[in-house]
Amino acid sequence: MRAWRGIIEEFREFLPVSEKTPVITLLEGNTPLIKADNLAREILPGLNLYLKFEGLNPTGSFKDRGMTMAVSKAVEEGAKAVICASTGNTSASAAAYAAKAGLKAVVLIPEGKIALGKLSQAVMYGAEVVQIKGNFDDALEIVREIGAEYPITIVNSINPYRLQGQKTAAFEICEQLGRAPDYHFIPVGNAGNITAYWMGYKEYFEAGKVDSKPKMCGWQAAGAAPIVLGHPVKNPETIATAIRIGNPASWKGAVNAAKESGGFIDMVTDEEILEAYRLVARTEGIFCEPASAASIAGVIKSVRTKGLLKAGDVVVCTLTGHGLKDPDTAISMGVKPITLPADKEEIVKALGF
Ligand code: F0G
Repeated sequence: MRAWRGIIEEFREFLPVSEKTPVITLLEGNTPLIKADNLAREILPGLNLYLKFEGLNPTGSFKDRGMTMAVSKAVEEGAKAVICASTGNTSASAAAYAAKAGLKAVVLIPEGKIALGKLSQAVMYGAEVVQIKGNFDDALEIVREIGAEYPITIVNSINPYRLQGQKTAAFEICEQLGRAPDYHFIPVGNAGNITAYWMGYKEYFEAGKVDSKPKMCGWQAAGAAPIVLGHPVKNPETIATAIRIGNPASWKGAVNAAKESGGFIDMVTDEEILEAYRLVARTEGIFCEPASAASIAGVIKSVRTKGLLKAGDVVVCTLTGHGLKDPDTAISMGVKPITLPADKEEIVKALGF
């Protein structure tokens, strides 16, 4: 077995790096593409449903693919510090890669609206964590202004190197399937990832590695669905805090991905997200975070209300982050452990054996 070298070394020919670029890597990428037959049976028997589990990246989300590029390029360009706004995962990833590179990291997060696991990561990796009394959109606005005025590199997805790194997930899916999927379902927040995947699928197609491209189907949370509504949402709200965003930076990229590929951007309610979140854990043994489950909720909605998919279709869902990021939401799903004395007889009786 050859050891995985991280996405920059593995996909160097597709990335804007040279031999002068110092590669800052935590060996991100190479995440599994899991065939989800149990889940498919619940949704549409015969559907070839695959889950790209990005929660298995080094900091537990897809952001690491973009961050290895953004931080490597920042170091190449002589940066001493990086900054980002975040709903949590970007801050965790930026903090980790900055630690690896020996850079200072500053992260701006919406107070009280990021999952506990993500906050604990940023703190442990040694970032300067600033909670603001505002939402992600406010934080990104401030980061843009600071980045324009001070010598600090922005590592949000408005940094083009981020999307370059993130597009490698599409390459991996094509390699893992031996073809491109028919449909790609993906959660949409700041809209960078859907933009990146579409770029990746197109580049792989143009390089002759695959002979088709998927329809890109993006999913926003109903309380934070500016692209679906066609206007920014001032006070976005959703249980899926990762995608609680009212004015996505890559709005145009997402619309373009949907349009060019023959797909669409739609929305799912928090109830639909939570149903999918629980279902994938119980049927497949895969624990993703709530925002990630928007892609599966999208498959369920597409089958139930759109009649979009049929048996035999090859569908990939990106599960963007790990469920352990957000233990509070999992615990609030209402399954309570039973408490008993440390006594075998009592336990056996309670279990009904
Ligand atoms: N899923 C998760 C788990 C995320 O953390 C994000 C974005 C998305 C989906 C949406 O991806 O923004 O590229 O459309 N999280 C960002 C953050 C905003 O700050 O961590 P997108």
